[in-house]
This record gives sequence, structure tokens and C-alpha cells, in this order.
Amino acid sequence: MRVVTQQEIGGPEVLHVEEAQTPSPLPSEVLVAVRATGLNPVDAAIRSGGFPVFGRPPFVLGWDVSGVVTEVVPGVNRFQVGDEVYGMPLFPRPAGAYAEFVAAPSRQLALKPRSIDHVHAGALPLAGLTAWQALVDVADVQQGQRVLVHAAGGGVGHLAVQIAKHLGAYVIGTASAGKHEFVRDLGADEVVDYRAVDFTEAVHDVDVVLELVGGDYGTRSIEVLRTGGLLVTAVERDNADLAARTRAAGRRFAGITVEPDGAGLERLAELVDAGRLRVHVEHALPLEDAAKAHALLESGLRGKVVLTI
Ligand SMILES: NC(=O)c1ccc[n+]([C@@H]2O[C@H](COP(=O)([O-])OP(=O)(O)OC[C@H]3O[C@@H](n4cnc5c(N)ncnc54)[C@H](OP(=O)(O)O)[C@@H]3O)[C@@H](O)[C@H]2O)c1
Repeated sequence: MRVVTQQEIGGPEVLHVEEAQTPSPLPSEVLVAVRATGLNPVDAAIRSGGFPVFGRPPFVLGWDVSGVVTEVVPGVNRFQVGDEVYGMPLFPRPAGAYAEFVAAPSRQLALKPRSIDHVHAGALPLAGLTAWQALVDVADVQQGQRVLVHAAGGGVGHLAVQIAKHLGAYVIGTASAGKHEFVRDLGADEVVDYRAVDFTEAVHDVDVVLELVGGDYGTRSIEVLRTGGLLVTAVERDNADLAARTRAAGRRFAGITVEPDGAGLERLAELVDAGRLRVHVEHALPLEDAAKAHALLESGLRGKVVLTI
């Protein structure tokens, strides 16, 4: 099969297509012919050495898959050959999703949303599960709460805005001006241009902040939370100083790492098929253009970029 791989750590140009052995599914797994694989900032961090969880190259990046089941190992009863599935298997261990085939534990997949194609389904798992696990499992957002989503026009943010609205929240997003119409169309009640305005002056009495930027955003976000409010960060999750400061200010802190989650994928698929959750794919490129796709990934995207097979 064809895979995108790299022989060295570096910029997008290190990515190239090679032939590799098709994986054999183990007990509990299915083999999926990948039709589309979504890109995420963590892919770029591993490629460039910023997040060295795979060790030295060569390795194959990627977790997001949408595709068709081509082999089911005896003992797996959830899927049949021909089923259209999607998921984020094995994260954060290598799944090798920039490839024609992926072997994945069946319970880390779900049936793909029926109402969207593989390109859009392949963009959903990692970003969608991050938003879902943060807002539903961790924050337990309730009707009428005020939720601030940072980086609301990005991969996670654009889904988080819609999920928070679905939960009945009043949603405020931060985004650069060029993304405001996009974020409002997703359902945000307010959008703050973080380049023109200090968000700590524009936003107040928030119940939940979803922090997706890093740097000083966590510390500054403490100010906009009401007493007892919750700061959820996907970027500064192991920042003990930020956690301590948040708690000292009478607010709550949660760092999150997204986890494979078949049940979460089923909920996301239901929302998509009910017309409550829209995945925005800004660019879809063939596997051979992985380097170009990575350059786009690092350019401050609206929504998602996807490789197609
Ligand atoms: N812990 C986890 O498990 C986990 C899971 C998923 C993602 N993450 C992390 O979460 C972050 C976001 O991921 P993503 O997939 O949404 O990334 P993304 O698609 O690349 O989106 C980044 C967005 O950030 C916006 N942005 C940049 N600087 C900003 C600022 N100062 N204030 C507000 N918005 C700003 C950009 O748009 P504009 O500047 O044009 O508005 C862009 O839309 C990344 O650091 C990623 O690694 C962590």
C-alpha cells in the first residue's frame, strides 16, 4: 500500500509517499481502506520534532480516518466488510492513518455519519472528540451557561462552538476578523476579534472556557470566569502553575488529552445526521500532496484540511 512517511525530522518537505506493507488486523481489530484522513496540529508537531512521541523516523503520521471495512477478524461483531466507518484509533500511539489501509480496534471506530462524505467524516474524529470530551464529559455544559471558545474558527473550535450551542449554552468565540462571519454562522452569539480587542475586557462571567491557544491565554482566561467557573485547556494541560493559579482564584481547572472513543463518535455522528453539527473542510488534497497539506495546516486554518485516497 501507499503511505506518507518521513525519513527525517523537519518541515513539510520531509513528507513523501512510499510503498509499505499493508497491516494485518489483530484480534479485536478491523482493516479499513482509508478514503480520507484529517490533519491535526499534533501531526505537524510530531513531524517537526516538537512532540517526539514516536521516537526517530521513519514513521507514518495521522489518526483521523474515514473509510470502508475490508477485513474483520473473527471475534469482532460490531462491523461487517463493506461498512463505512470513521474514527481516531490508537491515539496517541501511532495509527499510521496517512495510508491506504489502517488496522484499528473495532470499539475505537463508529459507523460514519450517513449524511456526509468520507472527506468530511475524515476531518471530524480528533477535533470533534476533543470538543465533545471537553464540553460534555469534562465540563458537563448545561443549558444557559456562558461558554467561551478560543480559536473558534479552527479545527476544534468550529466544532466546539456548535456542540456548545447544541447543549444550550450562550457561546462566545475568539477569532481573527476574517473568520467572524464563519463563526457566527456556526451559531456563536458573540465573536471577539482578539487582535483588535483584549478578550479579558470584552468577556465576563463565563462558566466554561475552552482554551485552544496556549501561551498566556490560560492565565488571562481566569479573569473572564465567574467564581467556580471551569478552565478547560487542551494546550496547557500539564501546566501546574496555571492549574494552581486558577484554583487560587476560586476557579476550577482541567487539562485534557483527547482519547479514542467509539461512543463519542456515535454521538457526533448523530449530531451530524440530525443537521446539528457541520464539519468545515477548507482544503482536500490527494495523499501525494501531504507536504502542501502540512503547509496549509500551519497557516491558521478555517476548519480542517484533509488528505484523500
Ligand atoms: N490536548 C489534546 O488532546 C488536543 C486535541 C486537539 C487539539 N489540541 C491543540 O489545540 C490547539 C487547537 O487545535 P486545532 O485543531 O483547532 O488547531 P487549528 O485548526 O490549527 O486552529 C488554530 C486556530 O487558532 C486560531 N488562533 C491563532 N491564534 C489565536 C489567538 N491568539 N486567539 C484566538 N484564536 C487564535 C487561528 O485562527 P485565527 O487566528 O485566524 O482566528 C486558527 O483558526 C492546537 O494547539 C492543538 O495541538 C490538543
